[in-house]
Amino acid sequence: MSIFSFPDRGPWGQSSWRGNCTGHVYVELFNRLKPAVFIDPMMGSGTSIEVAKEMSIEAYGLDLHQGFNILRDSIVGRVGKQADLVVSHPPYADMIQYSGKVYGEPHPDDLSRCKDDADFHEKLQIALINQREATKGGGVYGTIIGDYRRNGIYTSYQAEAITRMPSDELLAVLIKQQHNTTSGRQQYAKMQMPFILHEYILLWRKKASPIFHLLGVLANEQAARLRGTWRAVIRNVMIALGGAARLDAIYDQVASGCPEKVKENPNWKAKVRQILNSTGEYTSSERGVWAWA
Ligand SMILES: C[S@@+](CC[C@H](N)C(=O)[O-])C[C@H]1O[C@@H](n2cnc3c(N)ncnc32)[C@H](O)[C@@H]1O
Repeated sequence: MSIFSFPDRGPWGQSSWRGNCTGHVYVELFNRLKPAVFIDPMMGSGTSIEVAKEMSIEAYGLDLHQGFNILRDSIVGRVGKQADLVVSHPPYADMIQYSGKVYGEPHPDDLSRCKDDADFHEKLQIALINQREATKGGGVYGTIIGDYRRNGIYTSYQAEAITRMPSDELLAVLIKQQHNTTSGRQQYAKMQMPFILHEYILLWRKKASPIFHLLGVLANEQAARLRGTWRAVIRNVMIALGGAARLDAIYDQVASGCPEKVKENPNWKAKVRQILNSTGEYTSSERGVWAWA
């Protein structure tokens, strides 16, 4: 089953720790992945670590509340070895603030105190790469994370995380039903969309490649996406123009959607011409008029 649903959280960790996770999820993951060594770099009340120890798995729990900062400190440096499985359960969408509320003083690197979603996406990527560094080649790293809707806008933290890590390492996207959430108990009769009552368990299997390969892999993936977006935009411009148009009309249509920054750069016109010329999807029958090939 790729959907987990555990109404009770079991005896592990602290039920009083806000945003804690049911221990049954970790039982399931450990049974499937059979790690000899496990790390949770944001262990909170220690649910995962208690489960791991009960299952005789060598386990290491770290957290900001005991002085470990995933945005500055190396997980593998702190633990002293790589693990077979490194799973985090970060705070997201400032639903629950940890430092300064659940414990101690407010900490600027607390993932529950991000400036905005863009800041969070970047910090989660840093955390995931740190986790990946602490994972043995062939081992698994991952995160448990939900999505959020505020003011009618749905932010998909999980989708962002997936696009920011190497796609050829993605191993599984599992759904975990959430029980007893505060929002779930409230009645919002006017809402069109249902409350989000699930989180995702995202897992990646680490290839043996070192960290400096990651930039190349991710940059290539992003570049391929951007190329694809240019192609899709030009195709839709051609659809809007009835399948045949003068180059100037194509430029005008593209420019109408381009931010000023793009228009200031003369290369965008070259990009349009390159797509028209190189994809094999268009022909120029007479001077300056382009149509479907
Ligand atoms: C959702 S809680 C984890 C709950 C845990 N799974 C449990 O069942 O108790 C998220 C944790 O991430 C920790 N955290 C936030 N920012 C961090 C950072 N920069 N480095 C390490 N831990 C961080 C918080 O202190 C908090 O304990």
